[in-house]
Amino acid sequence: MTDRKRILTGIRPTGALHLGHYAGALENWVRLQHDYECYFLIADYQVSDYADDIPRVREAVWEVALDWLAVGLDPEGSAFVIESLVPEHAELATLLGWFLPVSMLERNPTLKAEMAAMENPEDGSTERKSVPVAFYTYPVMQVANILMPRAHLVPVGEDQLPHIELTRETARRFNRRFKEVFPEPEALVGRVPRLVGIDGNAKMSKSRGNTIDLKDDAETVARKVRAMYGGPPRAANEPGRCDENPIFLYLRAFDPDTGGLAELEREYETRGVPNKVLKDRLTKVLNDLLDPFRERRAYYQARMRLVRDALASGSERMRRIARETMDMVHDALDLNYLEKY
Ligand code: TRP
Repeated sequence: MTDRKRILTGIRPTGALHLGHYAGALENWVRLQHDYECYFLIADYQVSDYADDIPRVREAVWEVALDWLAVGLDPEGSAFVIESLVPEHAELATLLGWFLPVSMLERNPTLKAEMAAMENPEDGSTERKSVPVAFYTYPVMQVANILMPRAHLVPVGEDQLPHIELTRETARRFNRRFKEVFPEPEALVGRVPRLVGIDGNAKMSKSRGNTIDLKDDAETVARKVRAMYGGPPRAANEPGRCDENPIFLYLRAFDPDTGGLAELEREYETRGVPNKVLKDRLTKVLNDLLDPFRERRAYYQARMRLVRDALASGSERMRRIARETMDMVHDALDLNYLEKY
């Protein structure tokens, strides 16, 4: 039991989780939760870009926890952690900042893209914002998150890979200069690294409003799929190319009947299949996937005390490991001043 390797991974509490989160990461969490000792973190320190909307963040903490329970994460086996309930993260981030060159943040492609989007929103729909200091340094906090439980594996979405690399580098530098405290964690990206949005945009994302959320009801899913972008215009029975039609990207991601799907793809490319047929199939596939999630979500939503208890006990579990790690770090950095005399 205790010699299982550890997973730490997390999500920022900014709103409801969607199919992109599921196929890109959550599915792996569910699959691996019993083979690893898991810490699932709600990163409520890392929301400096939502500082003007604190109520949304506070609400989203519960939404995220409900989504996790809905997809089948088991809070008895794994720790659900609220980052700010483990303030050791702040101390560790301060100390780890010693080992991270500014140039590594400057080169970090994910951070660069996020900062550019804040300073120059491309579609003009969100207002231009200056980048808070805490936003610039959030990867350091994330490094602290991962190193805190001395994690071995970090199942995440593809966009997080630069941050895992930063974590590995920090661990190496710390271990080399001081003491071997931290394993070098590996990243693990989900089956579908990037899910297109229902508008055909390359990425499903909350800020674009092109998501199908895990908590959407069957009617909402049907409506969203009906409105989905279905590739370049085509007469109903004109052959098309599957790769140009996002509906197929979704079916490939979620349709369990791979044989039937292969058949449908051939038909689409030779004789043509109306988008309506594809959309009806996709609606059914998605609702079959989401139905058990909806059921579990409803169960917990009617019993929020259980959600609260999961977050309380998970955060407490993390805190015990955090104290252990901080003892090792204090020892390595010779920070135990008061034990000297
Ligand atoms: N930065 C991650 C995201 O935006 C969330 C996150 C915070 C995280 N801390 C983490 C992910 C630690 C993995 C490990 O999705």
